[in-house]
Amino acid sequence: MLNIVIFGAPGSGKGTQSARIVEMYGINHISTGDVLRAEIKAGTELGRTAKGYIDQGQLLPDELIIDILASTLDSFKESKGVIFDGFPRTIAQAEALKKMLAERSQEVSVMLDLDVPEEELMTRLIKRGQESGRADDNEETIKKRLVVYHSQTSPLIDWYKNEGKYQHIQGVGTMEDIFAEISEVINKI
Ligand code: AP5
Ligand code: MG
Repeated sequence: MLNIVIFGAPGSGKGTQSARIVEMYGINHISTGDVLRAEIKAGTELGRTAKGYIDQGQLLPDELIIDILASTLDSFKESKGVIFDGFPRTIAQAEALKKMLAERSQEVSVMLDLDVPEEELMTRLIKRGQESGRADDNEETIKKRLVVYHSQTSPLIDWYKNEGKYQHIQGVGTMEDIFAEISEVINKI
């Protein structure tokens, strides 16, 4: 079982690299952000709740997101593994993931930290906002997302170092070069 946490600030390339990992290794992909955006599009109650947080660049409550994660995980049958994209984002979520996997006699194989400087993140997300218009890709909300990342999410770097699962990835460069570094790490697992 290959259980990969793909980690990084907003715009660091988690979604982009996840798609390549899925294609190469045939594992399942969970992006909590994609799940929430699909709920918003479908106009569900969860979607309405999620929209309030996402538009403000804030995280949804841990309990809510952990429930979503657990039910998505249960929907995968005969899986070769999972790439977790945008989850965990808090220490409480990381602890919940550890417990959820342990209950299934599994563990996180590696945490890949896509390291990208703030200026580059801003440039990427502003560009995407202009091109495809994700509601939270505007300068004001991006700034809030980065503050939330630094205060609530980046402590996970030390948390995963402590678990012996941390792997730094240079997140700037061509998408191909970044993927080459990632596959080198995965191939050693
Ligand atoms: P989420 O959807 O997870 O968004 P995010 O973390 O802010 O990150 P993005 O999806 O914007 O970026 P990414 O790292 O996937 O990069 P991408 O590959 O797209 O979360 C959104 C919201 O949902 C949160 O703010 C929160 O409200 C809520 N939420 C989600 N999960 C939650 C959780 N666990 N707990 C609580 N709340 C949660 O790339 C970005 C852009 O850069 C693209 O345009 C891409 O083409 C480009 N790009 C990628 N790689 C490169 C490269 N090498 N060079 C140049 N450009 C590149
Ligand atoms: Mg993403």
